[in-house]
Amino acid sequence: MKLTILLFAAFCASAADLPHVTIIATGGTIAGVQKSSTSTTNYKDSELAVDALIDAVPEVKDLAQINGVQFSNIGSENMNTSLLLRLSKLVTTLISNGSAEGIVITHGTDTLEESAFFLDVTYDMSAPVAMVAAMRPSTALSADGPFNIYEAVALASSKTAINRGVMMTLNDRIGSAVYTTKTNTRSVDTFKAVEQGYLGVFNDKTPVFYYYPARAYKKPFFDISGVDSLPKVDILYGHIDSDVTLVNNSISNGAKGIVVACTGDGSLPTTWKEIAKYWTESGVPIMRSSRTGSSYVAPGKDNLTLGEYSYLNSGNYNPQKARILLQLVLNEFGGSNSSLVQKFFDPY
Ligand SMILES: *[C@@H]1O[C@H](CO)[C@@H](O)[C@H](O)[C@H]1NC(C)=O
Ligand SMILES: *[C@@H]1O[C@H](CO)[C@@H](O)[C@H](O)[C@H]1NC(C)=O
Ligand SMILES: *[C@@H]1O[C@H](CO)[C@@H](O)[C@H](O)[C@H]1NC(C)=O
Ligand SMILES: *[C@@H]1O[C@H](CO)[C@@H](O)[C@H](O)[C@H]1NC(C)=O
Ligand SMILES: *[C@@H]1O[C@H](CO)[C@@H](O)[C@H](O)[C@H]1NC(C)=O
Repeated sequence: MKLTILLFAAFCASAADLPHVTIIATGGTIAGVQKSSTSTTNYKDSELAVDALIDAVPEVKDLAQINGVQFSNIGSENMNTSLLLRLSKLVTTLISNGSAEGIVITHGTDTLEESAFFLDVTYDMSAPVAMVAAMRPSTALSADGPFNIYEAVALASSKTAINRGVMMTLNDRIGSAVYTTKTNTRSVDTFKAVEQGYLGVFNDKTPVFYYYPARAYKKPFFDISGVDSLPKVDILYGHIDSDVTLVNNSISNGAKGIVVACTGDGSLPTTWKEIAKYWTESGVPIMRSSRTGSSYVAPGKDNLTLGEYSYLNSGNYNPQKARILLQLVLNEFGGSNSSLVQKFFDPY
């Protein structure tokens, strides 16, 4: 009897000592449901609520004191800038008001890297933020969501994860929000950073890091506490026969910046070079990025400087992350000083 009480007291004491982790659910495949356990396509995403996600992994309560917040329940293709601004403010509030020591955000895989990147450059605190997703719906045989959530909670409650900003975790790997990208439409090991590699891996519940905490080279920080919207930036895709008049259409539709997912190392056909004059006059920067999926876009490649007119280049950022960074830079500094805008993207 005495021993039972002692053990119970020891258990209570240790549970109360566990760090507070808030799980913010936004929707996605991880909350998806399909009638058949053998089907991993055409399921209904964003069905399960945050409590159901947590109940599916009761083991997380051995790692942390868990709070659940239902932020949204949408497929990540429906994520948008106004939601991201709210999500970023919520993360900062939960950490700064002391209600959480680590954050887990469940999200769809499709735009996970964009949201993770957005949060990483608008979050300036040391507590870990683990973005997590799944490739298989919750009803599938070998659904990857529950173990991914377990590992995300382990990451968010680990002292070794402090000062690493926003991370992405799936399939036992820990990836950088700046560099990691989705590389495969089906596979559970879809998230990769081809050039930069992973930050770490899991040994059961223990994150094993390959590096000391480090900031991605030149990673900026934007204070969005007073920001409610961001300028519209479009992405156009480079290909054989690409139509330069799309730039005009985009600008007429209100774009304040354009990122082109160019072929190769940011190459543009000659027909496009002429339009540099137009964007300079309209004050809408056009940025060369690459559709290849890895490495940086060389500044000045192809000598795209036409007299005083020039294109910007996205450096190490892929088109979808360059778009978000350009939104944040344009919001804070405008687009008229192209060398100032370019400084945020220069890879060296
Ligand atoms: C962003 O998404 C939310 C949730 O679906 C929606 O309510 C809101 O209208 C969207 N905002 C914009 C600007 O599209
Ligand atoms: C911290 O902020 C969250 C989100 O706004 C709120 O729900 C919670 O009550 C706050 N906690 C404290 C201790 O202020
Ligand atoms: C784009 O618009 C500008 C300004 O109206 C115009 O000078 C230019 O000819 C247009 N270019 C194309 C390719 O339509
Ligand atoms: C590159 O463009 C600049 C500006 O128009 C020009 O002065 C220079 O000669 C060009 N260089 C090459 C190698 O074409
Ligand atoms: C443009 O930005 C650069 C780099 O920050 C700065 O050196 C330069 O003075 C700025 N030019 C103007 C006209 O403000």
